Amino acid sequence: MNAPVCIIGTGYVGMACALGLADLGWPVHGYDILPERIDRLRRGIPPYREPGITESLQKHLASGRIHFFDDIHAAAKDARIVIVAVGTPSRDDGSADLAPLKAAIEQLSSVEFAAWPTIVIRSTVPPGTSDKIADAIEHWADLIYAPEFLREGSAVRDFLNPDRIVVGCSDASAAVTYVNLLERLQKPVVFTSRCNAELIKGCSNAFLALKISFANEVANMCDTLGATSDDVLRGIGYDQRIGSEFLRPGIGFGGPCFEKDVKSMAHVAAQHGLGKELFAATLRVNSAQPMRILDILEHEMLSLSNATIGVWGLAFKAGTDDIRDSLALRIVDELGGRGARMVVFDPAVHVAPLPLGSRMVTSALEATDADALVVLTEWPEFARIDPLAYASNLRRRVVVDGRNVLDSSRVAAAGLTYRGVGRSMRGPVQHDPLAAAVEV
Ligand code: UDX
Repeated sequence: MNAPVCIIGTGYVGMACALGLADLGWPVHGYDILPERIDRLRRGIPPYREPGITESLQKHLASGRIHFFDDIHAAAKDARIVIVAVGTPSRDDGSADLAPLKAAIEQLSSVEFAAWPTIVIRSTVPPGTSDKIADAIEHWADLIYAPEFLREGSAVRDFLNPDRIVVGCSDASAAVTYVNLLERLQKPVVFTSRCNAELIKGCSNAFLALKISFANEVANMCDTLGATSDDVLRGIGYDQRIGSEFLRPGIGFGGPCFEKDVKSMAHVAAQHGLGKELFAATLRVNSAQPMRILDILEHEMLSLSNATIGVWGLAFKAGTDDIRDSLALRIVDELGGRGARMVVFDPAVHVAPLPLGSRMVTSALEATDADALVVLTEWPEFARIDPLAYASNLRRRVVVDGRNVLDSSRVAAAGLTYRGVGRSMRGPVQHDPLAAAVEV
């Protein structure tokens, strides 16, 4: 019988590791400081929404491959490998709050392990963090930094199908024990130092975020020049050196990772007297983008005061019910500040903090009983709704598609004014673009 792998933290990352490792045939012990979460997990109720996760959890509980514990000693003592996947949220100055990680390591230090353990940190941390932890625990454990690249909504699938496995370590035998767990995946493994592994994680997310900000800048330029960002970005993305992933313009990136990780990289750069311009610009573009969507809506409506705005989507992206750092919420808040009331529908989010006078409804069409409609999450089901079904509901006949998910011609054919992101419907602007280029 193999020793169990212990997972500390049952959020997206911890659960993806737990279910993924169980799928690969390993016995898993899950632990969380939240006893009510453990209680639900034992009853087969996952802490978040993801296709297939409930079935997978219930299958592994029934076969006895996964057990959940509210006592860290019981969860960890027989494990040779302990994976730590706790949150590292942003502090006000952009630095990562490592308190939950330090608390988890502190708790582990009191466990009487049956054999010398290897601790694997999977939480995102600033460069240098895991070397410090390794020094502090070298008398009782080895330490590996193995970042995750999981996306919400497909975390278990991503765990089982990674582009690469990154292992930051100073001791080859500890690294091999960890990599053996994932051998069946047959993926390239990057063995490197812990600091390099931390930089790989932070810089990968910073680059993806930069790509989205770039796509948004290009789309805004298309809007002004009367061009179409769908074609422009498609043309750019075909270049294999660039690639088409993460080149979709919209309301900006949200969620618990990107903003936090870019801020953390900017903070690290500044701390070391290095330029943080690229990180800072990525964030600046991202926080301006929701305002742009609002300005487009306000331009079409002339005034938002006392207007009723139908909102499709609140989750930070499609496929999740997560509204953490969702720019959709920021837009809804700002609309409230400009005097509008919102009627909001999201297929997965049913409760959210909304401005006074605004409410959630239970169907997409109900949310079109409004003056105008804005689309704020890229749920594909929105595109499947025939615009003729809601055209006459919208009193001012305006649709602002902040995610470019709707078919612009079908919306326009239904007699509605359609505005997307970089999907100019106005034709070229009057000023001479060459003259502007010379000024640059
Ligand atoms: C991200 C990283 O992709 C993942 O590798 C890391 O481990 C955690 O952070 P996640 O936060 O789940 O994953 O979401 P992701 O799918 O990357 O999207 C992030 C945000 O960017 C969403 O708001 C999404 O709508 C937006 N986005 C994404 C765009 O606006 N355009 C794109 O082209 C892609």
